[in-house]
Amino acid sequence: MKRERAVRLTIVGFGHVGGGVAEVIMRKHQELKEIYGLDLRIVGIADLKGVTINEKGLSEPEIAKFRDGSVLAGMSTEDMIREVEHELMVEATPTNVVDGEPGVTHIVTALESGRHVVTSNKGPLALQYRRLTELAERHGRELRFEATVGGAMPLISMIRNNLAGNRIISIKGILNGTCNYILTRMGEENLPYEHVLREAQEIGIAESDPTKDVEGIDTAVKLVILANAVFDMDVTYRDVKVRGITEITPDALKLAHDAGYAIKLIGDVDDEGRLEVAPRLVPLGDPLNVNGTLNVATIRTDLAGDITVIGKGAGPIEAASAILSDIIGIYAR
Ligand SMILES: NC(=O)c1ccc[n+]([C@@H]2O[C@H](COP(=O)([O-])OP(=O)(O)OC[C@H]3O[C@@H](n4cnc5c(N)ncnc54)[C@H](OP(=O)(O)O)[C@@H]3O)[C@@H](O)[C@H]2O)c1
Repeated sequence: MKRERAVRLTIVGFGHVGGGVAEVIMRKHQELKEIYGLDLRIVGIADLKGVTINEKGLSEPEIAKFRDGSVLAGMSTEDMIREVEHELMVEATPTNVVDGEPGVTHIVTALESGRHVVTSNKGPLALQYRRLTELAERHGRELRFEATVGGAMPLISMIRNNLAGNRIISIKGILNGTCNYILTRMGEENLPYEHVLREAQEIGIAESDPTKDVEGIDTAVKLVILANAVFDMDVTYRDVKVRGITEITPDALKLAHDAGYAIKLIGDVDDEGRLEVAPRLVPLGDPLNVNGTLNVATIRTDLAGDITVIGKGAGPIEAASAILSDIIGIYAR
């Protein structure tokens, strides 16, 4: 039996991902105690409605009441981060690639208050990676962000832990499930882009404003996080050459297929440190040729050769999986 350690955490941003984190922590509470000796307690939750707290740990009924908009504590999100005693904040507010807010303020406040931070929010990492990682280091706290790239796919932790000792030469992959779904359906059914986009919106795979996905911005943001975290670069998404999928036609997909290729939206940090997002020809037999909403990344290393990871790039429970594994990584060493 492991020695038990109580870890109090807050969740800031209680939408799909924040809610998924709470669900997973509740569902796995006993298992996490038995396997890792971790007694995870959610002591505060904040979203735009307000804040709810229970310093002993919120129960499922208390969380349900918060969802319904009741039992609000009269404090701001930042006051909760500063004043409620806890060890770790999960940040899951919407990604903003203009100034990174409100995520940047939440993360800075948490680190300056001595909390570890685990986030799924891409904006702060894509815009202020250096500042935030240096702040974490200065305060002796951890800032982890596996969920920001490739959802459940263990990319950053795999490179840092399991490929330690390797030089990473390049990384390329499909980092946006919406684009991959659209290109897959267009190719399989010989349908035009606009038709498949509408279909993807109807079934909830594409957002009502799909610009960030289809113009390649979301892929670029993830590429930047990988470049900074893995190659120690200091780039923002404005440093990426980006072209999306809006001009691809069913005819182009068919021509490519007849010649033995698929067309995929590929994000690439190459061996000279260039960052590019563009539709590329991928041989049909290449491990990068995955279909539907799947994500994939091939990491080229000097010792281990090419390693390819495939997985679900989005979804609340998938993102919660990455967040939980970051939390466990901080405490169960
Ligand atoms: N969904 C996925 O599969 C996935 C996967 C990986 C990463 N991500 C990233 O994870 C983050 C969360 O995604 P999501 O799908 O959970 O988004 P979401 O469903 O829109 O949830 C966002 C939450 O943040 C809250 N919020 C907004 N501004 C806030 C503020 N100033 N203070 C406190 N809370 C605030 C919202 O409150 P209200 O509910 O009151 O509006 C909402 O609860 C995003 O950055 C996203 O890019 C998502």
